[in-house]
Amino acid sequence: MSETANARAAALPHLRDSGLAKGDPIPLPLTMAAIYHTPGDATGFDQYGRFSNPTWDAVEHMLAHLEGAPCVAFPSGMAAICSVFFGLLKAGDRILLPADGYHTTRALADRFLKPFGVTYDMRPTSTFLDGGFEGYRLAFVETPANPGLDICDIAAVAKAAQMAGALLAVDNTTMTPFGQRPLDHGADIVVAADTKAPNGHSDVLFGHVASRNADIIAAVTGWREISGSIPGPFEAWLVHRGLETLDVRFDRMCSSAEVIARRLKGHPAISGLRFPGLESDPSHNLARAQMERFGFLISFELASEDKAEDFINNCDLMQAATSFGGVHSSAERRSKRGDAVAAGFVRLSVGCEPVEELWKAVEASLDKISG
Ligand SMILES: Cc1ncc(COP(=O)(O)O)c(C=O)c1O
Repeated sequence: MSETANARAAALPHLRDSGLAKGDPIPLPLTMAAIYHTPGDATGFDQYGRFSNPTWDAVEHMLAHLEGAPCVAFPSGMAAICSVFFGLLKAGDRILLPADGYHTTRALADRFLKPFGVTYDMRPTSTFLDGGFEGYRLAFVETPANPGLDICDIAAVAKAAQMAGALLAVDNTTMTPFGQRPLDHGADIVVAADTKAPNGHSDVLFGHVASRNADIIAAVTGWREISGSIPGPFEAWLVHRGLETLDVRFDRMCSSAEVIARRLKGHPAISGLRFPGLESDPSHNLARAQMERFGFLISFELASEDKAEDFINNCDLMQAATSFGGVHSSAERRSKRGDAVAAGFVRLSVGCEPVEELWKAVEASLDKISG
């Protein structure tokens, strides 16, 4: 990682220091409260659990430190995306979505935005710039996109979108702020599912929105307060704890993914391998330019649905599970979730297991389906 990313990682566990009084606990206390003591004028204090919570404040402080921008926490990645759509859009707006990104974002637009008069178009991530942005209120990209791992040039899309009067929102779930900081490349908004690597232990759903635009932060905060789309304090506490080790986990996961991807490249059972860190990957040059690391997701195809299921289910160090970014390696055959990919397409999330042990398990399972 760059020096600045390392500096951010080093400061992260010490963010609370300046607010500590003598005798305060060093770890973050969990505040479970629906109401607060508010005699008289309560302006400037916590008043009600739908408006604010000290545990949210602490996790938002950490996320803001990592994103370099104010952050608003949500109970899931989808809740964060909803806050952007419902907090910022109005009837008559048109938006642009990735055709190959997380399918639920498209479902949200189709089932819940369209009936309110917000229309959407879709473009492939790798050619997102083509066609321009005239007439759009919001362009929404995911890079690398889940599950195909194509990427787009955030700075170029931001510039073109903003010149046409559109906002650019980037779903940074696959990268985390240690892998890529879209706001530094000119994006207006970051959304992310902290359910994945930021929490990292697959026991909590969480999300956040980051922006350097105060009006955007006010809009999504207002949406959270009025819609009641609020994170639970305990979930916020767990994500705060997860973020303390994100740098270490992410470093291990990305390093291991580079090793595993290189070895998968030579395996006869694999085709269509995608990993932005491979020099042969169509995204590699752009990935080098805008990402701090190449991430921990790898995708590839096996010959059939059965072979993909067998590979996943027979691999001793692989959880057969949807989602990604946990300490345990996991994999999923994505066509079973409705993604437009081949039946044997596998998305693999590299976890924190020692890499040689992990490779041995992956290779053994691949060899078994090749035999
Ligand atoms: C890229 C991306 N964005 C958003 C989400 C939604 O996150 P959550 O499940 O926390 O709502 C996901 C979930 O898999 C995702 O992969």
